[in-house]
Amino acid sequence: MSAPFARAGSGAPRGFSVVVVGAGPAGLTVGNILRAAGVDCLVLETETRELVERRPRPGVVEEWAVRGLERQGLARTLLERAQTHTECEFRFAGERYRFAYTALTGHHHFICPQQSLVTDLVREYADVRGGEIRFGVRDVRLHGAGSGRPSVSYVCPGTGERRVVTADFVAGCDGARGVTRASLSPERVRLARHDYGVGWLALLAEAPPSSDCVVFGMHPRGFAGDMARSPEVTRYYLQCRPGDDPANWPHERVWAELRERLGAAGAPPLKEGRLIEKRVLDMHGYVVEPMSFGRLFLAGDAAHLTAPIAAKGLNLALHDAFLLGDGLVASLTRGDGSGLTGYSDACLARVWDYQEFSQWLAEMYHGTASGDPYRAGAALARLRRLLDSPVAVAEFAERYLGVRTTG
Ligand code: APR
Repeated sequence: MSAPFARAGSGAPRGFSVVVVGAGPAGLTVGNILRAAGVDCLVLETETRELVERRPRPGVVEEWAVRGLERQGLARTLLERAQTHTECEFRFAGERYRFAYTALTGHHHFICPQQSLVTDLVREYADVRGGEIRFGVRDVRLHGAGSGRPSVSYVCPGTGERRVVTADFVAGCDGARGVTRASLSPERVRLARHDYGVGWLALLAEAPPSSDCVVFGMHPRGFAGDMARSPEVTRYYLQCRPGDDPANWPHERVWAELRERLGAAGAPPLKEGRLIEKRVLDMHGYVVEPMSFGRLFLAGDAAHLTAPIAAKGLNLALHDAFLLGDGLVASLTRGDGSGLTGYSDACLARVWDYQEFSQWLAEMYHGTASGDPYRAGAALARLRRLLDSPVAVAEFAERYLGVRTTG
């Protein structure tokens, strides 16, 4: 079937201690931790280096995750470039409510475009720590995940040949549309999925910020979000039907809805601009349990997806990667397998905590527009409690910032 990827002068498939599938934040963080401990590993990525370093994605990073990157020597550029967010604003029934969470808790969010984090992680892994990485590989397949010596094969972009590499462990970090998850034994694995029943029209506008902080609008016509990305570009969200066609949202309609849903007394007028991206996201989340099978360990979006409602995805990917990197190093260098044995449970505690928070927040954002007066009333009660009760505010801040979670 395959032409083995052989060491010079040898006919056997090349072996690595760890093969990491996927060069997103999860896979690259695992790779960097392994290289820092001198573990040999190979990262396989279907896209080109240019694409993974350019792919624009939001990056809301919680303080504990930045500290974790710092401990691994991976946060220097992030700390130089990241902005910090200290407040957000809710708009409801024509009123504005500021939520100054840093003043309240002393904690903040770091905002760093994910592509700039990925660029740093690739450079550190490949150019500084000497890690091996193949970009642009095709048709990645995992063989014998449940066996003592799994292997991964892929088609080499240059030659079109299929190559095989063996590994002690495989880290499945290939995101929501990857292939490694399918290797988990279906009898032993449970996929828990939640559909929120709404879509978000994700928009990028060539427009300067209209607000000095992130704004969440709860409106009978649907949720709207306003998140400045840079002095020139702003991200907006508009709740829409799941599966809606972005073509149903021409320029005039988008800006009319944003003005309506984000309108509030004293709010600065929205600064309009050309829409350079329009996509419909069907809001859903899933969790794979357990996150490992034999010698395959999943991390990040390959194992769980949180709808972008609470901006938790990157943090969960990093949390998994820290635990998996440390667990692999302990097992491979000290023969201590306890980190790998407890890996799935340790990740899932935080995963479920963040899933539940996303669900809680989603109901507050979407209940008003659900068409169901019961849900609308309950969503309003949820918001009022948040505005009135110091206990509710403290709990919200803790969960929004991820400052007290086990693991
Ligand atoms: N083989 C190899 N690589 C693959 C394959 C495959 N079959 N399929 C996908 N990939 C690559 C993708 O091109 C991507 O670079 O795996 C990588 C997965 O990276 P991410 O999707 O960024 O996932 P992860 O590292 O888990 O990080 C999660 O991404 O979706 C956001 O908000 C989410 O911030 C979170 C983060």
